[in-house]
Amino acid sequence: MKKVAVIGSGTMGNGIAHVFAQNGFPVSLVDISEEALQRALGTISKNLDRIVAKGNLTEEQKEQTLQNITTYTNTQEGVKEADLVVEAATENVDLKLKIFRDLDSFTKPTAILASNTSSISITKIASVTNRPDKVIGMHFMNPVPVMKLVEVIRGYSTSDEVTQQVLDLSKQLGKVPAEANDYPGFVANRVLMPMINEAIYTLFEGVAGVEEIDTIMKLGMAHPMGPLQLADFIGLDVCLSILNVLYEGFGNPKYAPCPLLVNMVQAGHKGAKSGQGFYSWANGPKDLVVADRFKK
Ligand code: CAA
Repeated sequence: MKKVAVIGSGTMGNGIAHVFAQNGFPVSLVDISEEALQRALGTISKNLDRIVAKGNLTEEQKEQTLQNITTYTNTQEGVKEADLVVEAATENVDLKLKIFRDLDSFTKPTAILASNTSSISITKIASVTNRPDKVIGMHFMNPVPVMKLVEVIRGYSTSDEVTQQVLDLSKQLGKVPAEANDYPGFVANRVLMPMINEAIYTLFEGVAGVEEIDTIMKLGMAHPMGPLQLADFIGLDVCLSILNVLYEGFGNPKYAPCPLLVNMVQAGHKGAKSGQGFYSWANGPKDLVVADRFKK
């Protein structure tokens, strides 16, 4: 696999493009918005600076990494030579199905089509293409340059050969791949989201406050962030949508989203991205304060 295209230049897309480019792959970064692409290049440059500052990359390697990335607002142009496309667009089923229909007609027949979806069925995405054996999940974690895991999800028809290629490729990126089958939430979010939901229930029921819940889980379980901070970091809208996928996919009430989470999302309090969630993110991630609503 030589040429890679990444669809979507948001948080996940720019992180994925960064990691491929830093590992020597020519990357086409595709987004419908030129402004979003420019913002993504700025973010990648800043994140590369952190690595340079630590002495793990030279200035020349940083420049080479940036040169490995070409931006496109035209999908057809951006993907036509790709051996692998990683889709990291907004988490919306209809949008993803449209993108995969397009990718199927715009790319070489041999190209592997991967999705970074956190919870949409790979089998469903594959069903709109003429190459379901070459459609796979490549679920990176945020922040992509830091997190070691790639959850590799096999759709119902994904071939052994394609799975092996994606496992090998993930290792080439310095990541640790782990294989999972295509059932709701795969593994990462099937395990993570019920924990986050339960943390929100403990707040909702007045068992403990925001800081106490996060302190207990952070220091008691050695998690880098407490579950409420992590929910804010992921996006409360994303957490809600994944819980709904689990709830509908298994038909089991244990996955029903906490009503407090539903209310917060409806009120536009989506966590870090909106500035307000369980915490106020107005002063950046290093200076979090509990949101006024949850102050004691
Ligand atoms: N790019 C490059 N480097 C970055 C970075 C980025 N975007 N963000 C942070 N870093 C680096 C920093 O430079 C720093 O490096 P050193 O330790 O070598 O100096 C290191 O990462 C730690 O960063 P900070 O010191 O800024 O902050 P921190 O110690 O609080 O760590 C964190 C930040 C890495 C995000 C940490 O809090 C963490 O691991 N949190 C949990 C993240 C997590 O669980 N992610 C998964 C979310 S779920 C998901 O993504 C999937 C889904 O489907 C929902």
